[in-house]
Amino acid sequence: MHDEAKAANHRRWEEMVAVNLASDLYDLTAFKRGERRGLHPFEWCWLGDVAGLDVLHLQCHFGLDSLALARAGARVTGLDFSARAIDAARTLAEELELEARFVEGDVYDAGKLIPATFDLVYVTWGTICWLPDIQGWAGIVAAALRPGGRLFFADAHPFLLTLDDENATAGNLRVRYPYFHKPAPLRFDEATAYGDAGHAMTNVESYEWMHGPLEVCDALIRAGLALERLEEFEFLPWNHLPAMWEDADRLWRLPDDWPRIPLSYGIAARKP
Ligand SMILES: C[S@@+](CC[C@H](N)C(=O)[O-])C[C@H]1O[C@@H](n2cnc3c(N)ncnc32)[C@H](O)[C@@H]1O
Repeated sequence: MHDEAKAANHRRWEEMVAVNLASDLYDLTAFKRGERRGLHPFEWCWLGDVAGLDVLHLQCHFGLDSLALARAGARVTGLDFSARAIDAARTLAEELELEARFVEGDVYDAGKLIPATFDLVYVTWGTICWLPDIQGWAGIVAAALRPGGRLFFADAHPFLLTLDDENATAGNLRVRYPYFHKPAPLRFDEATAYGDAGHAMTNVESYEWMHGPLEVCDALIRAGLALERLEEFEFLPWNHLPAMWEDADRLWRLPDDWPRIPLSYGIAARKP
């Protein structure tokens, strides 16, 4: 099942690259003009100065965040299993005259494909939901870090992901999806793309695995990392519920009359 799920996800991600390259969500034009720094302000705050750091960006998509880190002086290697995403990342790096290395491959093969260690492993926004084995992922992250190296991870909060997103209102929040991980993935059939609601996707089918924050933290601890910082946030980089609104910082929030629920979370961990 995992192979079929991965193949379906791969097809959908390959199709998604062109959609996202042209999307307002990623706003590549502003990034090229240097008007957009990439990454969100809290991420820069958590990361501190990245100049001179060797950074591994897992599931880098077409490299926007990788190149934002390169622009800030990091030596970045991005990995993604989408050939089109890696092609686009390389083209973008060349166009922007930024040095960064992009490798095509599965996250679980990172150790074989990129036999090096890094000061920072950067993994954010829409990543581990595509991965069946979180302990395996934590092992990949730990092996890629040199002693003293850090992981920065941020993603949508599983509390939010359990909700019936289509019909949610302030007074009617219904749990529709399981919170805890199950070996069998959840199947989604989505006719449009998250980067462009007007785009009709050919590859509608995708599969996701839920991983709770404690499951992720536990996997990182078992892999030998020390947790340094954990935080839950009331914002998300994309619009997940109909009532959410986009703030000036490009983050989406819920109206004030909604219950206060976590929309995303972040983890910083270090290899001793
Ligand atoms: C939402 S993007 C995350 C990157 C970044 N937050 C962004 O939005 O540009 C998810 C990426 O994960 C990649 N991906 C999914 N499963 C993967 C796997 N098993 N190995 C490597 N990349 C994978 C997809 O190709 C896609 O580019």
